[in-house]
Amino acid sequence: MGTTSEPRARIPLTVPAVRHRKVATGGDPLVMLTAYDAPGARIADAAGVDLILVGDTLAMVVLGYDDTLQVTVDDIAHHTAAVARARPSALVVGDLPWMSYHLSTADTVANAATLVRAGAQAVKLEGGRKRIPMVEAIVDAEIPVMGHIGLTPQSVHAMGGFKVQGRTSEAALRLVADAKALAHAGCFAVVLECVPDEVARRVTDAVEVPTIGIGAGRHCDGQVLVFHDVLGIEDRLRPKFVRRYASLADDAVVAVRSYADDVRTGRFPADDESYHLAAEVADTLGCYSSDGPTPT
Ligand code: KIV
Repeated sequence: MGTTSEPRARIPLTVPAVRHRKVATGGDPLVMLTAYDAPGARIADAAGVDLILVGDTLAMVVLGYDDTLQVTVDDIAHHTAAVARARPSALVVGDLPWMSYHLSTADTVANAATLVRAGAQAVKLEGGRKRIPMVEAIVDAEIPVMGHIGLTPQSVHAMGGFKVQGRTSEAALRLVADAKALAHAGCFAVVLECVPDEVARRVTDAVEVPTIGIGAGRHCDGQVLVFHDVLGIEDRLRPKFVRRYASLADDAVVAVRSYADDVRTGRFPADDESYHLAAEVADTLGCYSSDGPTPT
């Protein structure tokens, strides 16, 4: 008996199928993982995740910025296109970055369309009721939208840091109202980030669309984590909600150090990792092998 589940049959997941995946009505929990390039998308898809989010965490885990505020629509589009080239069966969601849905509805729809043209099948944006006009405009352009409430990292300065949200009963009720408004405006799912388990449960019970949690406990309809956190590639920060399933950064350092040692000590490349001339050609050039006769 293995400890991992069997690979799933890969029927491409659609937005309507996601919209109806509520655990309370017997649906399997949704699994979402971020990915930012074709190899990441292939790994996520081969592992059977349901949704791939080309998140604005791109800024931190790939591009080396300190927060998500630095990425642009062009950055997300560039990486969405790389993910889409892997042709995953998972649903590809492109994250609308900060200031791409804040100025006007026309601007918002154009930016969402840029991500769709890059290969996204849906977009995600942060914020509650104040985003409703933007959500409605995007939905009106036939682009599916995922909401994101709770800790919204694009509001890091307004929130005064990366803090758990919804800790008071008023704040919890605001989150319930935000989630209901987003679902009513047409969001097909809502991400809940860093909210107490009890609040996530209340929100999940209150909306007909699935909630996808990150640091939001066990009662959501799905979970999302960042690729580099799950695999231990990003190991500088470790929020409480991250479960690490591998230590690839450590493994990579060991592997690259072995390569460097092999080069420096002459163990790499070996003869069978080298190309050789046919013996008669080598002879005409006066070549020789220090290991004996020139191999072909
Ligand atoms: O950008 C991202 O990776 C996200 C997830 C953390 C939900 O928004």
